[in-house]
Amino acid sequence: MKGSDRLRRLASYAFVAALVVAAVSCNEAHPNTTLVPHSDLGREIDFLWDRLLLLGTIVFILVEGILVYIVFRYRRRENQGTPPQTHGSTKLEIAWTLIPAVILVFIAVPTVRTIFITQAQAAPGSLNIEVTGHQWWWEFKYPEYGVTTANEIYLPVGRTVNFRLRSADVIHSFWTPQLGGKRDVVTNRTNYMWYTPDTSISSNVWNGFCVEYCGASHANMRFRVFTVSQQQFDSWVAGQKLPARFGAVAPVAPSGGPVPPSPAAPAVTMPPGAPGAGTPSAALAGAAQSSVAAVPTGAVQAGYIFPRENIPEYAVPHSPIPPDLKFTAGLTGNAARGKQIFSSSACIGCHSIAGNPAAMGVTGPNLTHVGSRSTIAAGRFPNAAAYLALWIKNARKMKPEVIMPTLGLDEYDPILKAKVTAAGGGLTDQQIADIVAYLTALK
Ligand code: CUA
Repeated sequence: MKGSDRLRRLASYAFVAALVVAAVSCNEAHPNTTLVPHSDLGREIDFLWDRLLLLGTIVFILVEGILVYIVFRYRRRENQGTPPQTHGSTKLEIAWTLIPAVILVFIAVPTVRTIFITQAQAAPGSLNIEVTGHQWWWEFKYPEYGVTTANEIYLPVGRTVNFRLRSADVIHSFWTPQLGGKRDVVTNRTNYMWYTPDTSISSNVWNGFCVEYCGASHANMRFRVFTVSQQQFDSWVAGQKLPARFGAVAPVAPSGGPVPPSPAAPAVTMPPGAPGAGTPSAALAGAAQSSVAAVPTGAVQAGYIFPRENIPEYAVPHSPIPPDLKFTAGLTGNAARGKQIFSSSACIGCHSIAGNPAAMGVTGPNLTHVGSRSTIAAGRFPNAAAYLALWIKNARKMKPEVIMPTLGLDEYDPILKAKVTAAGGGLTDQQIADIVAYLTALK
């Protein structure tokens, strides 16, 4: 092959590779890319990345160009004797010290600028969220509003949010690729990070991850960020502030008056056929859906929940169910009975439910409005009755090494390496179905 043909072919390969990179980086269909930032912090980091990539590319092309030229121009030829030997060149040494120093200045100036911007304190009036990393889930508190939730946050677009990052155990790292980050969540230390979601991303969902290896279920420590309008956010907050209640969401009395009494508890029908044998039925997948989709203009109605049907595919988990985990078909749960069982079982040792004085535990996620969330197990499964039932039955098969104990009667606990007995508090499928009915009703 002639040299010019080879060069032409190499050039065409490089062109195709560049096209692929460009397509991947620009495509909105890649929801976890950092190259399409949607916040001020994200843009600052993106600016630095672009600048350094440009400088690095220029240096690479220059250095490689000179190298390739020298290699070909001065390569050994036939009948050529030993070339003249030289030692040391003050001019050259000064040049290759000065040139990198100048390049470093061009890199350092934008880097230091970005560090100062991103490390500055959040603007006054920012929305504060206290983030606590746990093995393996995220606790979120909105101190101004007295709201505690888990694995899902709602952010009003256009308002700066100030995250206060702490860990309950080991080192985690908090990251929402398209919004900003990542920042470590370190034991015995508080880190901060802020960003302002763009006003153009109202009504969107973003994936969040733990990005510091933190144990067996590090990969199952995810969260969702819902960017919503200020009005939807106000409505969501008003709903989350209310104690747990069954069924439909009642509007908040404008004067801050008493909360209307809870309507009757709904029943949840378990899926026909064991969920372990396949995908849980579509009918049940909707069991935890919100009935409140839109908030009319005017007075704030409590209880906005991001409509489940609007959640994009990339934010819906598809984790497989362990094949050996089954659930009795056709059971109907009773929420009132479920509340009783929940309130007298091990559940209350770890979980809080505002409005249920028996449930005061703080080791596990706060379940006050668990029915309003789109996922369970820190983003590992959809929040639907069929998954929730299996989760309660044997969480340790659903998510490796999870602290949540195995509760199903006669289930094998992979950590304790023993079967759960009735004396040990094992729950029957019917009892679990009742608890599921209770929890899914907590909107
Ligand atoms: Cu938490 Cu990885």
